[in-house]
Amino acid sequence: MIIYLYFDNTKKKLSNKEVNFLFKCIKKENQYCNLYNGEWVTNENTISIYSPIDNSLIGTIPSMTKQDIDNIIRNSKAAQILWGETPVSKRAEILHKAASLLDERAEEIAEVLMREIAKDIKSSLSEVKRTAEFIRFTADAGKHMDGEAIGADNFPGFKKNKMSFAQRVPLGVVLAISPFNYPINLSASKIAPALVAGNSVILKPPTQGSISALHLVKVFQEAGIPSGVLNTITGKASEIGDYVVTKDEINFINFTGSTEVGRHIAKIAGMVPMMLELGGKDAAIVLKDADLNEAAREIVSGAYSYSGQRCTAIKRVLVTEDVADELVSKMLEQVKKLSVGHPIDGCEVTPLINDSSVKFVQELIDDAIAKGATLLYGNKTEKTLMYPTLFDNVTLDMRLAWEEPFGPVLPVIRVKDMEQAIEIANKSQYGLQSSVFTNNINHAFYVANKLEVGAVQINNKSERGPDHFPFSGVKSSGMGTQGIRYSIEAMSRLKSIVLNIDEP
Ligand code: NAP
Ligand code: G3P
Repeated sequence: MIIYLYFDNTKKKLSNKEVNFLFKCIKKENQYCNLYNGEWVTNENTISIYSPIDNSLIGTIPSMTKQDIDNIIRNSKAAQILWGETPVSKRAEILHKAASLLDERAEEIAEVLMREIAKDIKSSLSEVKRTAEFIRFTADAGKHMDGEAIGADNFPGFKKNKMSFAQRVPLGVVLAISPFNYPINLSASKIAPALVAGNSVILKPPTQGSISALHLVKVFQEAGIPSGVLNTITGKASEIGDYVVTKDEINFINFTGSTEVGRHIAKIAGMVPMMLELGGKDAAIVLKDADLNEAAREIVSGAYSYSGQRCTAIKRVLVTEDVADELVSKMLEQVKKLSVGHPIDGCEVTPLINDSSVKFVQELIDDAIAKGATLLYGNKTEKTLMYPTLFDNVTLDMRLAWEEPFGPVLPVIRVKDMEQAIEIANKSQYGLQSSVFTNNINHAFYVANKLEVGAVQINNKSERGPDHFPFSGVKSSGMGTQGIRYSIEAMSRLKSIVLNIDEP
């Protein structure tokens, strides 16, 4: 099989070792390629990516083989050595360039993102711009990740003649795996900290979201990331996922996605450090002294933005009986105001990512109705467009009280008091974030300290940003802490050089 490499219209015959690559420019024919050793490559097995909005073809991506993966990992490992020795200031400079390029192309890339994951155009644009800011902040943070010098004499029995110089060093090859709902931001949130720390990165983007993520990777390449330091692997994880996460040469796995897959990776990957950002069932706890107008507004925007396809979406409301009626009627007012439709029109509720998501969300709706929940609004679907659905009087025997819909449906669970709200909140297998709505600061901290989650938002919807804040999940919501400085720390290690000075 003769494989020709096309780059800037020059034709180059590839060596046998690379025979499984066929190369085409991104811009041409919507055929997207992988970045391998500084060149865009593909092979004959491609996957077509269709828009969940109208099923139109967006483009094709390569379905990489295990042999391709071996080549890519080998290349990443080799390229990391020089990159690890590149001054941090130089690495940061390249990241700053990438951030500027991303800003320049924000509209163009936002449109691709909107088409590929049906995210409304406003949120798509803010994802791209947020990512540029993230990369910029990471570049600066990376320049301030100094090591430390520790004297021995403050430990009993040791003298001043021993000194540890602890400096931050890269781990090596980082495997970054991102989810469909933020293919740009949650790819960059792994790539940028890993690169500024001196690692090389292999990105496995979500199949549905790959094209958007490849646009991001192209920006890094054009910013000057050396060949091999950032490579990509596209293809269905169902075919290559287990293979790539069990490769010994991988020094860190940075995964964001479902709890089911995260658990699976943790089980099969063995002794490799990893960060897992997984599912959530974020509760909004509303106490009787809350500002109910504010609570209703925050809860509805937190629950239904991007059709609820956010790990930090509010996915259940725990409200004390004494204010439940008032809160529910205010929430219903807000839900009725939500715009539903085509992402280009900036609608909050847009088509879900695929049919299986629609089917799963509908199952939870049907189960709640069958078990007697009060349907206040919704339960209407047109193809993949599910209208916002609101339930009251949801009880703990209903799946909707516990499962993550990742869709535009919200259950209201009435509780007798603050203690019962805490108890039900902590009974969930998930522990990502929670919101507490109250005007009593003592109650706010009392509840916040009791909740088993990564973060508690006081009088605000649950959300990840700003991106330098620590972001973590406990229980089934993950392990490890994300957030710019925390991500750089997670994807590097302290190496100590101990100086022993002989007494004169
Ligand atoms: P997913 O199905 O778990 O997929 C996430 C990523 O993992 C995709 O790139 C997927 O590739 C890949 N993958 C699947 N199986 C794999 C395997 N065996 N080995 C290696 N990679 C594998 O999740 P999703 O549907 O994209 O995203 C939605 C879920 O992610 C929700 O549960 C949500 O809560 C969670 N999430 C969490 C956070 C957070 O920060 N905590 C953020 C966003 C989303 P393919 O696309 O090729 O299958
Ligand atoms: O689901 C993605 C997650 O990381 C949420 O981000 O900013 O929408 O809260 P955000």
